[in-house]
Amino acid sequence: MNVSLVRRATGAVPLLVVLCGAILLWAPPARAQADVDDADVRFNELYADGAVVFGTSCVSCHDADGGDTGAAPALSGHPSMGARDYIVRQILFGNPEKGMPAFGPALDDWQIAAVATYIRNSWDNAHGVVDVADVQRVKAENRP
Ligand code: HEC
Repeated sequence: MNVSLVRRATGAVPLLVVLCGAILLWAPPARAQADVDDADVRFNELYADGAVVFGTSCVSCHDADGGDTGAAPALSGHPSMGARDYIVRQILFGNPEKGMPAFGPALDDWQIAAVATYIRNSWDNAHGVVDVADVQRVKAENRP
């Protein structure tokens, strides 16, 4: 057999290994990227709907720019805004004796998640998404 042919063929093996390795290494980040994109889409949907809910159900008391109105406290930079479940609870059950109505009876789980996502990520706030599962969990945990 031609020796140089054998040498050329075996010389291709490391190259193949490197190529396969490169494909394997490259594939997981591609999948992770898709997850990130899905999360972004979800966030954007909740945030956009939350802006609508805030405009119809909250701005009668809360400032559209997140400031203190006198009737209701500033939501921008609110010290509890990072506490996701606490914020969901306040929206669901309110604090009626202090003037914050309960929105659990008026809004569905998506709308609660959406407005929570909106206020937690508007103005000076950047605390991440609140999803429907979070609202359902808080409801279940607070069921009498
Ligand atoms: C009728 C007036 C009114 C409306 C409408 C209203 N709020 Fe409030 N909200 C208040 C008042 C007053 C407080 C302060 C209550 C307190 O001192 O605990 C408050 C407090 C809050 C807090 C802070 C809770 C805390 O304990 O730190 C959040 C969050 C909040 N509101 C979100 C919302 C959202 C979201 C909506 C719309 C879905 C909304 N509010 C609609 C009056 C209102």
